[in-house]
Amino acid sequence: MLSWRGVIDAYRSFLPVSAATPVVTLLEGNTPLLYSKYLSQGLGEPFQVYLKYEGMNPTGSFKDRGMTVAISKALEAESRAVLCASTGNTSASASAYAAKAGLRSLVLIPKGAVAMGKLSQALIHGARVAAVDANFDVCLELVKALAQRFPVTVVNSINPFRIEGQKTCSFEICDVLGRAPDFQLMPVGNAGNITAQWKGYREYLRYGRISALPVMLGFQAKGAAPLVLGRVVAKPKTVATAIRIGNPASWQGAVGARDESRGRIEAVRDSQILEAYRLLAQHEGVFVEPASAASVAGLLMLAKRRYFKQALRKARGRGKKREPILVVCILTGHGLKDPERAIQSVRPIRPAPADLGAITKAVGLA
Ligand code: F0G
Repeated sequence: MLSWRGVIDAYRSFLPVSAATPVVTLLEGNTPLLYSKYLSQGLGEPFQVYLKYEGMNPTGSFKDRGMTVAISKALEAESRAVLCASTGNTSASASAYAAKAGLRSLVLIPKGAVAMGKLSQALIHGARVAAVDANFDVCLELVKALAQRFPVTVVNSINPFRIEGQKTCSFEICDVLGRAPDFQLMPVGNAGNITAQWKGYREYLRYGRISALPVMLGFQAKGAAPLVLGRVVAKPKTVATAIRIGNPASWQGAVGARDESRGRIEAVRDSQILEAYRLLAQHEGVFVEPASAASVAGLLMLAKRRYFKQALRKARGRGKKREPILVVCILTGHGLKDPERAIQSVRPIRPAPADLGAITKAVGLA
């Protein structure tokens, strides 16, 4: 087998690159698509649930797919510095790719609202990080204002090259499954990813790689659900800091993906997110960050409402009796990004003296 050389190499003909583009890659993409027996059994026959584990990208999130394209294009355009606002993952990815490309990276984060793992990544890769006394939405406005005054390349998903790279996630899913899934579930924050992935599916359809499109199901946290409410949320709140966003930049893209695919964007409570977070870790052996668990929280919520059963009736009506119904949940980021949350979410560690009796008790053997 030929070795994997990153998403630009794998999907070059679908991306805005030429022979003149200096490719900056950390060999992102080609992430696992894991079959979940537990979740499949929960939905029952003929559903098959798969988990696209984007936490396995080089910096631990899906952002790397977009960043390889954005940073390669920034280098091609002879930019010297890249700038982003971030709830953490974008800054981790931008800083790593900028380091590899020899570019400076400048980061604005909402003070006190970024998980430690992500912050450590931006810092160790050499970013100049400003912790702003404001939320993500304000940070993004400040980034736009800075970019008007200084010669820096913005690498948030308002940069179209980010969207181009991120659509490769859909390509990989289709390539592995041999078709598009029937349903795709994903967390939604700034809404670049749902916009990108819907674009990916539509392109694969246009080029005849697939013959049908998935229904797109997006999930926001209840305290940060502008797309569900249909209005900006001034003070977004959720434990899922990655998606603590009140005014998504790709608002129209998300609404377009939802409506064109006859999908939904729904809100899940923090308690549902944390339940799905533990479930993935304890039943699947997959450690994700809380925001990523929103897709599985959404799956469980819609299953309870019998949403998928209704879909099954419709599919049967169309005469697809024996075919499996494929469901893909995108797990956007790695659990190690936010170890503090993991430790707070489970039973506390038991201190114990070095004594056989005490230890037997401490580990629950007696
Ligand atoms: N999941 C994770 C782990 C994220 O980091 C993000 C976004 C999302 C989901 C939502 O994706 O914004 O495309 O709708 N993180 C951004 C950041 C905002 O700055 O890292 P989206």
